[in-house]
Amino acid sequence: MSSLTNHDVFQQRIDQFLEQKLASLTVNDNKLHEAMRYGLLIGGKRIRPYLAYITGEALGVDLKDIDGVAGSIECIHAYSLVHDDLPAMDDDDLRRGKPTCHKAFDEATAILAGDSLQTLAFDIIANHDFSETVKPKQITLIQQLITAAGYQGMCGGQALDLAATDKMITLEQLEVLHSLKTGALLEASVLMVAECSSKISPQEKQALKAYAQFIGLAYQVRDDIIDIISTQEQLGKPCGSDLALNKSTYPALLGLEGAQEKAENLFQQALQALASLPYNTQSLAEFATFIIKRSH
Ligand code: IPE
Ligand code: IPE
Ligand code: MG
Ligand code: MG
Ligand code: MG
Repeated sequence: MSSLTNHDVFQQRIDQFLEQKLASLTVNDNKLHEAMRYGLLIGGKRIRPYLAYITGEALGVDLKDIDGVAGSIECIHAYSLVHDDLPAMDDDDLRRGKPTCHKAFDEATAILAGDSLQTLAFDIIANHDFSETVKPKQITLIQQLITAAGYQGMCGGQALDLAATDKMITLEQLEVLHSLKTGALLEASVLMVAECSSKISPQEKQALKAYAQFIGLAYQVRDDIIDIISTQEQLGKPCGSDLALNKSTYPALLGLEGAQEKAENLFQQALQALASLPYNTQSLAEFATFIIKRSH
């Protein structure tokens, strides 16, 4: 992570934002509040917020506006992980180096904590103190978050992932699956921030969208690779989980080398998409490199 410019600064910023948000909530049930804290605040690389901040930096978007976008997306992400680890889904016991939420609490509490983190995401985006220029775009931002998180996005991808378990699927089907379950939220991290910019043109938005789609897919390809080549200590989550569950992954379909080649191709395509943009996209390019090289 240290290879990413200002990662520490933006991680601290989003952690503080989310910490304050959670502390400000009145949750009647203490256990539920604790489980929400557990799912949202204990660890996590904060990749989606980071991507939102560096996109905003390139486009000159107000940091306070990026906070609202980044905070809401990270709540969706945290909820997706709490539910992804449940026995009914991947049935994993370790997340971010700690027992998964349903292990630390219980299944019912983990389900409710996930549900509550999901609604918290919409609370943030609907009630955040956005700049006057962004306020008129708040409904559009909510629509973007819905599309990225719901049946058209992450949830839809998770359903395809479950349906593809114990089955061989085609590369085209796998690409759709990955682009939805993981790509959609990464894409939203870029495009929701682009929505907050007053200077970006439709063509530039298209180029940013292409960049986000390539790196979003690459992120899950790399996740599948490190599920095989990394260690539990490095990852903070179990290794070999996909193999054990007979999941459809790029390494399963193409072998490890083929999967690495796929990640490399996506990386090159992401850089090409950035090339047409008249902004300083150095951090975005660096982020693409991080994605295909990361070991955790
Ligand atoms: C893990 O996401 C699930 C995927 C979409 C691959 P991250 O790798 O962003 O997990 P944290 O938030 O850093 O724990
Ligand atoms: C999960 O993919 C993507 C989500 C939408 C949560 P994985 O199931 O591969 O994520 P990990 O490996 O458990 O983090
Ligand atoms: Mg999963
Ligand atoms: Mg999983
Ligand atoms: Mg995985």
